[in-house]
Amino acid sequence: MINKSYVIWNNKGGVGKSTITFHIASVYAEQNPKRDVVVVDMCPQANVSMMLMGGGSKAEERLKKLITKGTPQTVVGYITDNITRYDTSNLDNYMIQLSSYNENLTKNIYLLSGDGNLELIAPLLSERADATPLSERDTPWVNVHSIIKVLTEKGPSKNRPCTYFIDTNPSFSIYTQIAILSGQYLLVPINADDSSIFAITGLFNLIWGSTEPHPVYGKYTFSSKVDRFKMDRPKIALLLGNRFTQKVGAAHAFKALSDEAIKKMYEEYKNKPDRFVEPKSEVDNQENFENQFSAELRDFNSAGVVAANQGIPLSKMDKTVYKVYKESIQVSKDQRDKCKKVIEDIVKKL
Ligand SMILES: Nc1ncnc2c1ncn2[C@@H]1O[C@H](COP(=O)(O)OP(=O)(O)O)[C@@H](O)[C@H]1O
Ligand SMILES: [Mg+2]
Repeated sequence: MINKSYVIWNNKGGVGKSTITFHIASVYAEQNPKRDVVVVDMCPQANVSMMLMGGGSKAEERLKKLITKGTPQTVVGYITDNITRYDTSNLDNYMIQLSSYNENLTKNIYLLSGDGNLELIAPLLSERADATPLSERDTPWVNVHSIIKVLTEKGPSKNRPCTYFIDTNPSFSIYTQIAILSGQYLLVPINADDSSIFAITGLFNLIWGSTEPHPVYGKYTFSSKVDRFKMDRPKIALLLGNRFTQKVGAAHAFKALSDEAIKKMYEEYKNKPDRFVEPKSEVDNQENFENQFSAELRDFNSAGVVAANQGIPLSKMDKTVYKVYKESIQVSKDQRDKCKKVIEDIVKKL
């Protein structure tokens, strides 16, 4: 029984992390009926939780119910119980089976919901992590930073392998660090803009440390602690070019920018191939690097708006007209099919 875990992160907001997490997790669950799938929402904005719970105002109500329980049925409940050494072995206390909230989803997909209070407990988590160790064996930093990693070795059902998808916040706060260390594989969404490309450098510096560490606070960084405690980092599996527009000129510009992003990643790969997953076949130039390590999403247009608003995976979208806040939205079959195929292709690469 082998579990897998994917963390979706880029230290830039609005690149499509939550949207991509929603689409790939729901399609992955359909295509892997023998596995369980768990989405862990490590972003206090809880966007992917809302989409998975059916979107719109009803999802907001559902989320509120989970968050306000005595022990929140969310990441906050799980993390705080774990730190206070309360027995967390019954995952039903924390995760929800999404099919009872959203009929469009298969039975094998679960959610450890996001929770706005994650932001509020972040300073407390840092305090615990940075507590002075009592003995040589006491490693509070490692314990706090491994909470979700340890979870990913389990799953909601005893006899079924489980795949985790972990959505994140762009900030490099403690909960993002916990999220990053819980993934075996890293998926990096990018948009076609310079800040997105610049963020790639930031991502390497934050996770692996900058090539020239600062003489004073270089010692206190996440990266130096990960090294000191010999913890595993996720391996980069895919760069996901998320293209928000289909206009001809824009498509051209997108290509130029995504080439630049891929070039940058390829440079990193040449220097440190062990930061990436083992390629399926030999990589000796930018072109075959691109084939193996990148995928492009298309603009979801109205199909994407409807999907996110109502928690419908692209595969289940079979109508041509949907109501979104009383407006009728047209979704062409052609558009749906194209979007669906892109997601299925990405899921096949996982
Ligand atoms: N491929 C896409 N096509 C159209 N709109 C998209 C696409 N990907 C993301 N979006 C939109 O962009 C916005 C930001 O996406 P989101 O997933 O919330 O980003 P992040 O989680 O990285 O902050 C949302 O409004 C989302 O609907
Ligand atoms: Mg998000």
